[in-house]
Amino acid sequence: MKLNKKTIEDIQVCGRKVLVRCDFNVPLKGEQITDENRLVGALPTIKYLMEKGAKVILCSHLGKPKGEPKPELSLAPVAKRLSEMLGKEVVFAADDNVVGENARTAVLNMKNGDVVLLQNTRYRKEETKNEKNYSKELASLAEVFVNDAFGTAHRAHCSTVGVTDFIEESVCGYLIQKELKFLGDSIENPKRPFVAILGGAKVSDKINVINNLLDKVDTLIIGGGMAYTFLKAMGHNVGKSLVEAEKLDYALEMIKKAEEKGVNLLLPVDHVVGAEFSAETEPVITEGKDIEEGFMGLDIGPKTAKLYGDAISSAKTVIWNGPMGVFEFANFAKGTVSVAEALALSEALTIIGGGDSAAAVNQLGFGDKMTHISTGGGASLEFLEGKELPGIVALNEK
Ligand code: 3PG
Repeated sequence: MKLNKKTIEDIQVCGRKVLVRCDFNVPLKGEQITDENRLVGALPTIKYLMEKGAKVILCSHLGKPKGEPKPELSLAPVAKRLSEMLGKEVVFAADDNVVGENARTAVLNMKNGDVVLLQNTRYRKEETKNEKNYSKELASLAEVFVNDAFGTAHRAHCSTVGVTDFIEESVCGYLIQKELKFLGDSIENPKRPFVAILGGAKVSDKINVINNLLDKVDTLIIGGGMAYTFLKAMGHNVGKSLVEAEKLDYALEMIKKAEEKGVNLLLPVDHVVGAEFSAETEPVITEGKDIEEGFMGLDIGPKTAKLYGDAISSAKTVIWNGPMGVFEFANFAKGTVSVAEALALSEALTIIGGGDSAAAVNQLGFGDKMTHISTGGGASLEFLEGKELPGIVALNEK
């Protein structure tokens, strides 16, 4: 995909104050960051700007503080970890109103190459409503805006969209460029066979993704909770598995669309089931596609894992979004692990579409075996739906 937006390399940044929107919405255990993919992803842009002598003012949201300061959602741990990663102090401006006394003083004292991090942008209620006053305040800190928050590019908020109305130049950073290259190329110009794997609990979360991908892929693999709605629609017995009754017609429509488009739609041919939704429930492997009364499907079975693995090993491009089962329960994680393994062994271009599948791949230690692990959960899904992302639309054209 060709990006027609200006990038950090298209503008002069030396000596200028540059506000950089990152996605530092990272998982925390106390003050410990448990997955650093988003921090690592932000480094190339930050380092480039530092090397070019910009005054780098970073901002991000963290979690959902709902418009008020919540100490447990402070970005202080991010400032600390980024300082270590950059080998230079990232000055943390701990203002509860984000653009306050600390931020203004820190920015005033900046020298070329210095880095400041603002407090969680969602401490202010205006942020998610994209209100002008707060966008203006953010813009007043800098002369240039760089959006590198791919993970938040689907949100039209002050710090992603509003700010661009009040600042001279708005361009994108390296992470957004990289994400659009990998996700965009694989969708628009894939090496074939092109296989997409979709999992996760609900069909309703992936409606437009399924529809859009059926226009692009050679094989669509469906696993996770959403597979049971498809199987039920086809007349199979799914016991007490999760089924979205109002999506049965939609599932049939998608099955028909796949046939018309000549897309190979793969659904589970066996399952690992349990009597209860719990980590302790005894795992039972079914013979075939049907699930007995009193049981629920919690993972794909071994025959399905083999079927999916074979499709993956003959692919040239694979996109994966969503786990194959309840992988947080050890007894029902094998399906997700087997898909991750098949991807790790594959020679194909492998793109992991953020969220749970990215976490699974990283936890299993396969992170460096994948071509690209997206830092976007919701954003990569909206991208796969074919939607334009407002945080990217708002940037200046080349
Ligand atoms: C994400 O984690 O998907 C992004 O950071 C966006 O977060 P949000 O869903 O809270 O807007």
